[in-house]
Amino acid sequence: MQTLSNQLQTNHTSLDLISLIDTLAIACKEIAFHLQQGALAGILGSAGEENVQGETQKKLDVISNDLLKDYLLKSGTVKALASEEEEGIVKGDDKGSYLIAFDPLDGSSNIDINSMVGTIFSIYDAPATEASEEDFLQPGRNQAAAGYVLYGPSVMLVISVGEGVQMFTLDQRLGEFVLTEEQVIIDADCNEYSINMSNQRFWAAPMQQYIEELQQGVAGPRGKNFNMRWVAAMVADVHRILCRGGIFSYPWDNRDPNKPGKLRLMYEANPMAMLVEQAGGAAYTDQQPILDIQPSHIHQRVPVILGSANEVKHCVGYHHE
Ligand code: AHG
Ligand code: MN
Ligand code: MN
Repeated sequence: MQTLSNQLQTNHTSLDLISLIDTLAIACKEIAFHLQQGALAGILGSAGEENVQGETQKKLDVISNDLLKDYLLKSGTVKALASEEEEGIVKGDDKGSYLIAFDPLDGSSNIDINSMVGTIFSIYDAPATEASEEDFLQPGRNQAAAGYVLYGPSVMLVISVGEGVQMFTLDQRLGEFVLTEEQVIIDADCNEYSINMSNQRFWAAPMQQYIEELQQGVAGPRGKNFNMRWVAAMVADVHRILCRGGIFSYPWDNRDPNKPGKLRLMYEANPMAMLVEQAGGAAYTDQQPILDIQPSHIHQRVPVILGSANEVKHCVGYHHE
């Protein structure tokens, strides 16, 4: 049996980074506990506030954000953090070696229906000097580590420190994340897609055509049938792709010129892109690899197309024609 910190030690991960990841794991175990209590603890429903992005916060969005902030800021490893639920960066320990960006609770529309949600995180080396928002604005390629915790029938922590992707399952008897899947690989080809079809009329023409051809199945130009899944929590949809392949997209759409996509680069697209690339898959906007984007803002949104490498390249190809 290998626990999370045992496994990280075999990867030559620095002690500081192991300590930060252990802190994250503890905070997420506590989030998992609150989620499991659900209605019993009176923590379902809206918090009655809006976050910086104008989205209504759920009580559990706020609880998860506060827990992560609290643990991380006291850990001594974090120089500054950025969160979906915080307008600006929050400064931590001057001597902290890392910057961390996170989505405390992803898929929050699933909270009130007792369905899957997650926590997503992205870690960078901190600058030697005092941290500013500028220091967060680095391409995802520079991430020191990235991962997520999936709160599902089991609680799983999935992480990459740049040496492949490992999956850990929370053993509730031990209170430890135990290694259950080593060096995850995503098949290059797939027959499953994941997209919110209700937005179809807002997509660009290449995406309309790509999905239309998938739907024609064996009779269409692709010559095979595709299945469709949409959990409405990116963590759960990406987890499925890491487990059995597939393509996931939240594409560009024309509903709001200020939102070229729904998903946020720093704490949704970048960490998931690192995991997917580390597992042999591909992660693009409709133009370029997500990890190559030079961010302009910590809450920037981008179109996302990720998953099985051949399928992602096929889809992106329509946008280049
Ligand atoms: P969040 O709950 O952190 O705001 O993120 C939800 C995101 C993502 O997880 C999911 O893929 C997508 O929003 C679902 O969007 P729709 O409700 O438009 O399907
Ligand atoms: Mn999210
Ligand atoms: Mn969220």
